[in-house]
Amino acid sequence: MIEITQVEDLPSVQSLTLNLSATKNQILHLNTPLVESLAISKQYKETGSKVWLKLDALQPSGSFKIRGIGLLCNKVVKEKNVKHLICSSGGNAGKSVAYAGKKLGIKTTIVLPKGIPQEVQEKIRDEGAIVIEHGNIWNDADILAREIADKEGFDGYIHPFDNPVLWEGHSTMIEEVYQDYLDGKTEKPDVVVCSVGGGGLLVGILQGLEKVGWSDVNVIAVETYGSHSLWKCFQNKQHTVLDVCDVTSVCKTLATRSVCKDAWEAAQRFNVTSVLVSDKEAIEACLTFVDQERVLVEPACGAALAAVYKKVPELVKLSPKNILTIVCGGNNTSISQLNHLSNLFSTHTTTCPYPPKHDPLEIPKTLLTTRLTTTTTTTTN
Ligand SMILES: Cc1ncc(COP(=O)(O)O)c(C=O)c1O
Repeated sequence: MIEITQVEDLPSVQSLTLNLSATKNQILHLNTPLVESLAISKQYKETGSKVWLKLDALQPSGSFKIRGIGLLCNKVVKEKNVKHLICSSGGNAGKSVAYAGKKLGIKTTIVLPKGIPQEVQEKIRDEGAIVIEHGNIWNDADILAREIADKEGFDGYIHPFDNPVLWEGHSTMIEEVYQDYLDGKTEKPDVVVCSVGGGGLLVGILQGLEKVGWSDVNVIAVETYGSHSLWKCFQNKQHTVLDVCDVTSVCKTLATRSVCKDAWEAAQRFNVTSVLVSDKEAIEACLTFVDQERVLVEPACGAALAAVYKKVPELVKLSPKNILTIVCGGNNTSISQLNHLSNLFSTHTTTCPYPPKHDPLEIPKTLLTTRLTTTTTTTTN
């Protein structure tokens, strides 16, 4: 039984429609700052590498997602005269769709798997969206979102990571870096470091690099142990879907069973290296980052930061002069939650096991119990 909440809180369709014509084509993301982190660059002083931060955590929806989602929502609203957007999400894509819908004057429904924190749900409702909780994993939520779209005539289904328009939107972050380079504000990156969930961000970055003529730039694609679907593709040399029980990462918005096929295909065409960090490292990276840079991000973003902080061998061996780190942001976070997770992981090793295998010892017992009793917490986006 689907329970739709808070319908009465939504603005009326009429008032929304009035807004629509005025705002239909607006660009919904911000050009974000690119700054050098002196604190992190200092860690690379032997090699003299500069570490640059592309601060997409500062997007109005809290993550890079609004770049692609904003573009896609604009497109479906404009071309298909869509009246109701619906998206399955682990939080950030949903927040972006809700934000886009509000700006475009369109109703939105976001289907989340169970277990997404109330604070995140509230942030989505605050944008005027209807929130439905369904299933234990993102795939369940996605099936319901598609069903609702079909049955209820919600004509704007938005996929959280697998759509060419999303990738085009995400690619703007590289175009902005390129513009900063042309303006003499930065140098050409030798390597881009980013987190990977379903792979939409990765495809967008690769497309952006290609667009600006930087296809030679290396990309370090970071996942956590327990969300290692791209890593597994490289291992198997083919597109691979993880077993549900192997998707154990606390970085919920990275925890997909598989990257989209285009991500795997693009990763083979470009200079992409797959790297894994542990959940603990991702959490610690968020805590260090907020102390050093005063920007709070979720562990999904902490994965990329962890690879830079711990100077993974795959990065160091490139002897990069300029490291571009994508600070993709995320709403699933708070200082107290990060501290709580950090405490849970305090007795665990910081090293990431290669090759990853499902090792319950890596996961704090409390989390393991939760996982086993809820079957799985696999979510994404
Ligand atoms: C904060 C954050 N970082 C990274 C990702 C990974 O993006 P993608 O699924 O496009 O690989 C997500 C996905 O939701 C996210 O929310």
